[in-house]
Amino acid sequence: MSINFHKILVIGDVAVGKTSLVNRVVYNSFSEKYKATIGCEFGIKMMKIDGEDVRIQLWDLAGQDRLGGISRLYCRDAHGAIVVSDITRQDTIDKALVWKSIVDDQTKTQSGGSIPMILCVNKYDLADEGLKLSNEELQKFAIEKNFAAAFFTSAKTGQNSETAIETLIREVLKIS
Ligand code: GTP
Ligand code: MG
Repeated sequence: MSINFHKILVIGDVAVGKTSLVNRVVYNSFSEKYKATIGCEFGIKMMKIDGEDVRIQLWDLAGQDRLGGISRLYCRDAHGAIVVSDITRQDTIDKALVWKSIVDDQTKTQSGGSIPMILCVNKYDLADEGLKLSNEELQKFAIEKNFAAAFFTSAKTGQNSETAIETLIREVLKIS
């Protein structure tokens, strides 16, 4: 049976661009202004994937809540997660693993698996002033760390934002 409603968590450190990515895919808009998310915001996106209509509910969590444990509650019944990092800040890439492990712990099934997750290394429009990370290195990292896929994204230009979500939903559909 196919489900047509998907709860997707959008997680990662403070100011990496989670809300901006959600606004890019939901409203096709971008703002340079930073307004920290408090708690959780929602975005709904309808997509047609391989001929199927899917309704995606994006749960955009506050980066600063990680230690508060609030995000653990939000994991309940999630189908997939997008872990976001910032190409200009190495620590946010290291922290992506911490975020992933929190979700792994919270969503582990009896058979030991957890929900599909992808890694988005965002702000790729700033790559010139950012870390020197090749796509090959990124893909290797993603495989090693058990992400279903990884992308360089930019909420500013829109690069890969929809592709990333489509890829995640395909992974979710595979196991549902
Ligand atoms: P929290 O809600 O605090 O966890 O932050 P967040 O991850 O939701 O970050 P947010 O989307 O609010 O973006 C933080 C800042 O980065 C804002 O000033 C955005 O304009 C900027 N930003 C986000 N994505 C991009 C991007 O792809 N490129 C560039 N150049 N700036 C970006
Ligand atoms: Mg936010």
